[in-house]
Amino acid sequence: MGWKTLDDMDLNGKRVLLRVDINVPVEDGRVTDATRIERIVPTVNDILSRGGNVTLLAHFGRPKGKVVEEMSLRQVLPALEKALGRDVAFVPSLDAAAQSDLQLMENIRFYPGEEANDEGFARQLADLGDIYCNDAFSAAHRAHASTEALARLLPACAGRLMQAELSALEAALAKPERPVGAVVGGAKVSTKIALLENLVNRLDVLVIGGGMANTFLAALGADLGKSLEEPDYYDTARDIMAQADKAGCRVILPVDGLVARDFAKGAAHEVAQLGPDAKLADDQMVLDAGPDTVALIETAFAGLRTLIWNGPMGAFEIPPFDTATVAAARAAAAKTREGTLTSVAGGGDTVAALNQAGVADDFTYISTAGGAFLEWMEGKTLPGVAALGG
Ligand code: 3PG
Repeated sequence: MGWKTLDDMDLNGKRVLLRVDINVPVEDGRVTDATRIERIVPTVNDILSRGGNVTLLAHFGRPKGKVVEEMSLRQVLPALEKALGRDVAFVPSLDAAAQSDLQLMENIRFYPGEEANDEGFARQLADLGDIYCNDAFSAAHRAHASTEALARLLPACAGRLMQAELSALEAALAKPERPVGAVVGGAKVSTKIALLENLVNRLDVLVIGGGMANTFLAALGADLGKSLEEPDYYDTARDIMAQADKAGCRVILPVDGLVARDFAKGAAHEVAQLGPDAKLADDQMVLDAGPDTVALIETAFAGLRTLIWNGPMGAFEIPPFDTATVAAARAAAAKTREGTLTSVAGGGDTVAALNQAGVADDFTYISTAGGAFLEWMEGKTLPGVAALGG
């Protein structure tokens, strides 16, 4: 932990450029999940209460260096004001003067210099502040001007959310209490190769679920009918299993599954035994892990002190194929509540799946990050963290 926090800074009378990630889902002009906005509130309030003036720098969508009205941050302003319980001034362009002790700058990705991590653009931003504070862990995998170059031009520190994310992730993987395990689910092996390769060398137990487990089972010889799988990655799957074996990491694959003929909510289904000898009919597919697999996972969790969770165990968006995800998530939550497990989750669909299981509040830490969480699990250095000296 080489980075500074707000505790190391004198904020009184200072203009603080606060990089946040309020890239939140919006439908019909309304924010549908304000979690990321709510999580920056402590940092904003901390700076204001210590006499600092806050300019929020943020992106929204991927406008690729152009002004795209539908991607204006104006639409996020009401949700931001609601979370903060006060007015926030809106600054439509870099040339407009700061108007208040708290303002939100228009989408920083409207400027081509942002994604180019352009030094000149970063200097333009630096002129607007005295201190740089980064609270956007979920954008820290991007080496952009407001996440990277700017940190090198002003006295820089991590905000409260960034601090919490980094501490939780360090406790989960850098210095975990052992035994440490992970659940890695999701549809495709191809998107998670680097992550799996990194994890097998660090973990004691790895549970592989979701569609990607099909590729592993098929690589071992199973015939899984029309299940989602990636034949081009059979060798990769076998390599990962071999690496795990060498590193002493126990890999748990589904031993049974919920099998259906239609990918639909409530589709007729049955439990089928899985494993290298499994043979499904040509029109059958695995949509979730089965009860024996859940029992195996629960037993494995009982021996763990730390758990990292990324990705669902099945097609959790179409019940009943959320059964294994919900059951396993509840088992992890119960152990966490007992105080015997540190559980950290993040990335893509994961938080939605844990919310569906009704256990998101019981996990030790839920990251706000999608892509950044995955890159962190891959063992990559995140540029936005590195620029803070971390
Ligand atoms: C995210 O939503 O994961 C972050 O805001 C990063 O967005 P990006 O993938 O467009 O860089």
